[in-house]
Amino acid sequence: MTGIAVLGSTNMDLVVYVARAPRRGETVTGREFRTIPGGKGANQAVAAARAGGDVTMIGAVGDDTYGTLLRSGLEHAGVDTDLLHTAEGPSGTAHIVVDDLGGNSIVVIPGANGTVTALGHGETAAIAATELLLLQLELPLSVVTDGARVARAHGVRTLLTPSPVRPLPSELLDCVDLLIPNEHEASALTGVTDPHAAAQILLGRVPEVVVTLGAKGCLYAARDGEPVVLPAPEVTVVDTTGAGDTFVGTLAVALGERRPVSEALAWATSAAALCVQRPGSSVSMPYRSEIDAA
Ligand code: RIB
Repeated sequence: MTGIAVLGSTNMDLVVYVARAPRRGETVTGREFRTIPGGKGANQAVAAARAGGDVTMIGAVGDDTYGTLLRSGLEHAGVDTDLLHTAEGPSGTAHIVVDDLGGNSIVVIPGANGTVTALGHGETAAIAATELLLLQLELPLSVVTDGARVARAHGVRTLLTPSPVRPLPSELLDCVDLLIPNEHEASALTGVTDPHAAAQILLGRVPEVVVTLGAKGCLYAARDGEPVVLPAPEVTVVDTTGAGDTFVGTLAVALGERRPVSEALAWATSAAALCVQRPGSSVSMPYRSEIDAA
């Protein structure tokens, strides 16, 4: 089994389903409200565990009811939570509006995620001992950078999802092997809208890039090879929340199994396509058998 450490966020997703998101100053009536365990880090951990990875989650939940639910959700998915600390105060929350086209808008309140400011001995040892490290940007940037540095020092392959997008310091990018932005993040990081051109610019900073393109699939580019464009299967979209995290968690497992890149991308794309056909983030992520069948 591929050893994967996720240094990242856990959030309780507070999701409203509505025909269309309200404009500024407008009140609309929604259809349904759900609380669903999420957070980019925890989502990637669940996706990787369901895809067959041996996953350790590093981060923090609050000492509230959400914290208890977030921890048990991860454990139920088979994720090791020994390094998921319980901090005083509220858990992270994500306030999500999902419209009838399956699109979403999200406001994240970091809560306990903001208390993850340093790596202790246990966290450092877990990163040093794993095969792949998954990072996103919902924890303080300093600790994300520390995690990447530890990984680099121990030859651990690091995948970074630059979301929520922000300028990325060289100290971090110098330790990243594979950067996985969506097309909006790729554009924000480079100033160009064409994903192919953006990927080429990003290759100046990291050795490999995957730009996820939503319904259009993904684009892989590496310094030492030809770009690969992989279309996504056509499906009926219910909710895109967590699709990118599903892609990354599944891709990590496939890469850890040393599968060829194009096969790994196809597997991850199938997993993301399954995720968008169901509501919610972590709860909509497919199991390995479902991905194989798809
Ligand atoms: O990527 C989706 C996730 O982003 C949601 O689960 C939410 O928690 C936000 O962090």
